[in-house]
Amino acid sequence: MVDLATTWLGLPLAHPVVASASPLSRSLDGIRRLEDAGAAAIVLPSIYEEEIEAEDALTLALVEEGSWTQPEAAGYFPTADTETGGLEARLETIRRAREACAVPIVASLNGSAPAGWVSFAHEIEAAGASAIELNLYRVPANIDESGEAVERRWLETVSAVRAAVPIPLSVKLGPWLSSPGHFAGALVGAGADGLVLFNRFYQPDIDLATLTPKSDLELSSPYEIRQALLWISLLAGRLNTSLAATTGVESHVEVVKYLLAGADVTMTASALLRHGPDHIATLRDGLADWMAGRGFDSLAAMRGRLAADRLETTEPLLRAQYAEMLVGYGGEPR
Ligand SMILES: Cc1cc2nc3c(=O)[nH]c(=O)nc-3n(C[C@H](O)[C@H](O)[C@H](O)COP(=O)(O)O)c2cc1C
Repeated sequence: MVDLATTWLGLPLAHPVVASASPLSRSLDGIRRLEDAGAAAIVLPSIYEEEIEAEDALTLALVEEGSWTQPEAAGYFPTADTETGGLEARLETIRRAREACAVPIVASLNGSAPAGWVSFAHEIEAAGASAIELNLYRVPANIDESGEAVERRWLETVSAVRAAVPIPLSVKLGPWLSSPGHFAGALVGAGADGLVLFNRFYQPDIDLATLTPKSDLELSSPYEIRQALLWISLLAGRLNTSLAATTGVESHVEVVKYLLAGADVTMTASALLRHGPDHIATLRDGLADWMAGRGFDSLAAMRGRLAADRLETTEPLLRAQYAEMLVGYGGEPR
């Protein structure tokens, strides 16, 4: 028997396969299914800054209008709509999941600027979430704003959420930074207990038939693990923080690679959407079989074996190897 136990954000987990934020964990039924399928922890779909601000604005409008006409206006607050997911419904899902499930339930907030919505983190905590994942997802499309200014805003956002709640805070970030390692360290300095590498940014296409922007969502492929693999390897052992790997986990092979690079947990969304929640057990058991086959009796024994700070040289990860591969590329030009 191999010991798959791990600790993530200070939370003890039975194994390192976590259900990443996706529609599968939107409802209580979905969350229960993921737990029954063996998920070690479950991240809920993001609650967006825009949703919170819009509902705050609506509440304010109702209160102001009501205070004019009817003193009992509080009764007109928007009611929870479980299908479309009003904020109260989202909080209720967290409360009920907390009661129904033994595994950690992680709520996700998606925001990129510190403002009133940040206080919603407190309500998430009060609802019983074990941790918050803050998804810093926004394409910095304003070309007058420098990278430094964007990062400063993100760090202020992290500090603001950190100040709002005492529960563990994990930050999900994208890879498109001049110095991801430096920014990762700054996030930890701003109060992040963990990092999720990397966000998979939505990338629009163009529909040539209609000559309009095309929005579709492609599920990930295992090839896409490489960027997060590199950065987890470079950061593991160097930052005092929990590392979660997301993107491209299709089979236990990607789980093994991420753990060897130094991840504390791996997350999966696309593979669960493709194969169903029961795929979690396939990933977990595949990991256990692989470890047994290689003589690793615990996760601690294998984790970080290929972290950069434990390699004799980081050359295979970095530039020299890249140049050699390009020069030595064997494909025949046509
Ligand atoms: C349909 C779908 C919905 C998603 N919704 C969210 C979300 O609400 N919040 C979030 O942080 N990530 C969300 N993600 C991103 C996933 O959690 C995950 O980070 C990403 O898909 C990469 O992992 P994968 O390769 O296992 O899919 C979503 C992904 C998919 C495919």
